[in-house]
Amino acid sequence: MGSGVLPAALLAGDGVVEGMLRRTGGMFGLWAPGLGRAVVVSDPALVRAVMRAPDGVMAASPAGRMREPVIGPRGLARLEGDEHREIRSIMAPVVRDRVHERLREATERLALRAAATCPRGRPFALRPLLHRALLEAVLELVAGLSPERQRAWRTPLRELLRRADSYEVTVRYALRHAGALDWWPGYHRAKEACDRLIHAEIRRRRKAGGEGDDLLGALLRARDDDDAPLPDAVVRDQVMSMIAGARTTTANGLAWVFERVVRHPEVLRRVTGESEKGEGDAYASAVTYEALRVRPPVTFFGRTVRRPFELGGRMLAPGTTVIVHLRTLHHDPALYPDPAAFRPERWLDGRPAGYGWMPFGGGAHTCLGDRLAMVQMRTFLQVFARELALSPAWPGDERVRWKAFCNVPAAGCRVIAHPR
Ligand code: HEM
Repeated sequence: MGSGVLPAALLAGDGVVEGMLRRTGGMFGLWAPGLGRAVVVSDPALVRAVMRAPDGVMAASPAGRMREPVIGPRGLARLEGDEHREIRSIMAPVVRDRVHERLREATERLALRAAATCPRGRPFALRPLLHRALLEAVLELVAGLSPERQRAWRTPLRELLRRADSYEVTVRYALRHAGALDWWPGYHRAKEACDRLIHAEIRRRRKAGGEGDDLLGALLRARDDDDAPLPDAVVRDQVMSMIAGARTTTANGLAWVFERVVRHPEVLRRVTGESEKGEGDAYASAVTYEALRVRPPVTFFGRTVRRPFELGGRMLAPGTTVIVHLRTLHHDPALYPDPAAFRPERWLDGRPAGYGWMPFGGGAHTCLGDRLAMVQMRTFLQVFARELALSPAWPGDERVRWKAFCNVPAAGCRVIAHPR
């Protein structure tokens, strides 16, 4: 098996891993503290084999374990098998299937408000502004919180997620894995503050008979085979799973959409035209597909081998982590001619078949917020293109930087906005 490689390179998203994968034909092995034995894959046939592994052979991603400080031991990404299926089937109708006109309208209002707060005529970083707007959206979806009620949640949530998103968490995870250390005190304080808020909301809703057509309402109304409700701790873990899953990812994906379009004026013109003429959103949609391809905000996802599994001629032992490296997969020249070019037109005739585009992962653990994120991204793009004349703060591309488990534009997507 190929040689080990600095795990930091995996996180850096800087092309080191991509180079290794190209040299090794799409698969190499490594050992990382806290993770143990792992293989990194990008060859589409191998990715397909991983995603189609029979039931019980592959389990949830180790990233779920690393997110435990926030999502808790029973958060969706931590669960497996029947328990995972049960909880997912309660959440999916609210989060995946209800992505309808109402959501689009609510997102449109949010995007208009965000566009109105952009400074005019001087460079500013768009990413923080997108973060604020999208956190508001997820708190509304998850717990039906109005912007006024959200105020009390913002500081404790920011504090908890700031700690859990830092590099520190990877180091602490490795130390904890080695049995050396438990989670840290500042984190415990932040977590307790968030838990108090969530549990108070759970109590309030239970008293009101599990009201609400948001995610919390659905979780509180759910009953198991013995007609018992979900324990509060499990409900809490799903609330935090959604907040943590949504908080940075969509805003980062959207920051890349804008980072790319402002450097491709012909693309931006076409998005603006489509949006102004009310010609639907086929082109805006193609733009988001292409941005998620060239700059996937989550650059890899993983699975844990549960039973011996043969992959690419190698026998993987139970406990091995399989990491699918999206950035390399998305730049495969066999799937995408001239892969580095930002060309939304590729998507106008549909998506490539199979497993060539996976910014949201795949299989049983596919991102629960994928449809929601796509609607939010398209809508923000169309509204901003209609409301503002956007240009880059400088002509060169923004570098890719690893932050909070995501790849982000290094300068936070610095743009200049003028009124249209
Ligand atoms: C552009 C935006 C987003 C990206 C790129 C993204 C990416 C991902 C990826 C790669 C995974 C792992 C999938 C796998 O292991 O196969 C994941 C899981 C997940 N995501 Fe997202 N995500 C995004 C937005 C969201 C949003 C908006 C939410 C919530 C509203 C969300 C909630 C979740 C949850 C709960 C999981 C765990 C699913 C499970 O284990 O069953 N994500 N996401």
